[in-house]
Parts: sequence; C-alpha cells; structure tokens
Amino acid sequence: MVAPDDVAFGEYGEVEASLTGSAGDVDKGRQIFSEKSMGNCVSCHAVAALPDVPFQGEVGPVLDGIGEYRTPEELRGILVNAKKTFDGTVMPAFYKTSGFIRPGDAYTGKAAPDPIEPILSAQDVEDVVAFLMTLKDN
Ligand code: HEC
Repeated sequence: MVAPDDVAFGEYGEVEASLTGSAGDVDKGRQIFSEKSMGNCVSCHAVAALPDVPFQGEVGPVLDGIGEYRTPEELRGILVNAKKTFDGTVMPAFYKTSGFIRPGDAYTGKAAPDPIEPILSAQDVEDVVAFLMTLKDN
C-alpha cells in the first residue's frame, strides 16, 4: 500500500500507480461516494446515475460521463489531492495526512498528538475510482 506521503503525482496531478495494487470495488465505491459518513461526494457533486440519493450538491461539476473524459490515473490524483489538478480548489484532499494546519498547533503552539488519518483509505480511493469509471454517457 502506498502511504499518503509517498504518493507520486504526475505533471498534471495524475497518479499512475494503484494505491493498493488491487482493483477497486464498484459497489463499495458507489456507497462511499453517496454516504455522508464516508466520502460524501454528493454534497458537492450531482450524478444522474444515483437517482435515489437525495440532496445532491452543486458546488462542484456534475459528474455524469466522467468515466468518458477522465482516465483512472487522473481520477486517482483528483481524489488523493485535488489541489494538484485544480489549484486552490475547495474540493478536499481525501488521501493526505501532512501539510495541514493542525487544530493543536493553533491553540497551544504544539503539534496535535495523534497522527491524522486520511478521510478515505487507499482502498476507498480505488473503489471510488472504479465507480467513477462506470459513469459513461447514457
Ligand atoms: C466541498 C465540495 C467538494 C467535495 C466534498 C468533493 N468535490 Fe469533487 N470537485 C469540487 C469542485 C469545486 C471541483 C471543480 C474543480 C475546481 O475547483 O475547479 C471538483 C472536481 C472534481 C472532479 C473533476 C471533474 C471534472 O470535470 O474533471 C472529480 C472527478 C471529482 N471532483 C470527484 C469527487 C469525488 C469522487 C468526491 C468524493 C470523494 C468529491 N469530488 C468531493 C468540489 C468537491
């Protein structure tokens, strides 16, 4: 498994190598994409292929057809750290554990004691990439 600090980005923010070396699970990826407690991608992105998911957001672009015009490598990079692809974007970095201003730093001048966990695990990222690749134009 590739640790968050060891992810290698290409020139345009893409990540060539699978984070886990195993294929993503489309159903699991759909669940992570849709659920508030997990990726909660739908709070910012609407997808017509998920008609049963309420309250889809419009902060980010609609992702219908994303599997046609983005490669898995580009999608992996956008998920790991969208700022490598879109400078200054509001989209969170989902697989990143360093370079944040930690809550502990702000009030005490000391680093927060516990290591920060990435929002999504390496396999979660691969699962969401696999789901996004199924979004072809109908
Ligand atoms: C806080 C809002 C927000 C959340 C949450 C969010 N995104 Fe985004 N996303 C954006 C914005 C805004 C953009 C457009 C990039 C920019 O800022 O120019 C974007 C861009 C993208 C793109 C590229 C779209 C394109 O047309 O190339 C993909 C793919 C994507 N997001 C997937 C996801 C996935 C998957 C998740 C959940 C794991 C997610 N996003 C969560 C806001 C969000």
